[in-house]
Amino acid sequence: MDSYERVHEYLSKLGLTRMESIIDSYLEASHDRAVMDILDHLLSEELKHKVSKKTENMLNWSGFPFRKTLDDFDFSFQPSIDRSVIDELMTMRYLHNTENVVFLGPPGVGKTHLSVALGMRAIMSDIPVYYTSAMKLIQTLKRDYDLKRLEYRIKTYSRFRLMIVDEIGYLPLTRKESNLFFQFVSSRYEKRSTIYTSNKSFSEWGEILGDQVIAATVLDRILHHCVVVNIRGESYRLKDRRKSSLPTMKKE
Ligand SMILES: Nc1ncnc2c1ncn2[C@@H]1O[C@H](COP(=O)(O)OP(=O)(O)O)[C@@H](O)[C@H]1O
Ligand SMILES: [Mg+2]
Repeated sequence: MDSYERVHEYLSKLGLTRMESIIDSYLEASHDRAVMDILDHLLSEELKHKVSKKTENMLNWSGFPFRKTLDDFDFSFQPSIDRSVIDELMTMRYLHNTENVVFLGPPGVGKTHLSVALGMRAIMSDIPVYYTSAMKLIQTLKRDYDLKRLEYRIKTYSRFRLMIVDEIGYLPLTRKESNLFFQFVSSRYEKRSTIYTSNKSFSEWGEILGDQVIAATVLDRILHHCVVVNIRGESYRLKDRRKSSLPTMKKE
């Protein structure tokens, strides 16, 4: 085996796939370049490739319902949102301080969009994020409780420095479900950040959780270190619908 073949074999065995695929053409075009410069270029290409692959994997595992960033968000449509608060959240200081974020507001005002944008921002900084709807979270906790592996599940969740629990309040919870939700909230309290969204105001959480005492205890922990963003405004979905209904109205 000559050195050419050996180098390719080493690169392949070391999993340096990007380097292996570009090394031939790059060396051909770099006769007069210093060895260090050549290594510098090839290794930086490999690193870029690895980082983007890891980011893509994290995005795939995150469970986001869509991929949208803050650039896709039209702040002029939602003037009740203080842009400086969202910009501050984008610095991710809240994550480093293990604070929570709560987005409150009626359907369609961008609660999920802003949560996902914050989640994507975290992933770009190599922070693992997991998105789930509140309903799916409760179902999972219930199943794992029945299978006697609740502790394992909660430990698994704690691997995510950021979790997004979307759509709290669409269905009222039973007492058992509320208790499981409380255990989830407690497990993350002051240890991990969580973004919650809800179409219900905090005063209505008693009804959702079916018990004023549990609701107060849950809110106490969520809100102790928390940024609350209250969105009052029109649904963006409705705006699109109105636009698309204009031509039909003209025809009539
Ligand atoms: N201000 C906005 N600018 C751009 N797109 C928006 C805005 N608000 C909402 N959207 C879009 O409208 C849809 C509904 O928003 P979503 O975040 O799911 O609302 P919510 O979670 O509050 O019900 C999504 O596709 C979202 O990207
Ligand atoms: Mg939503």
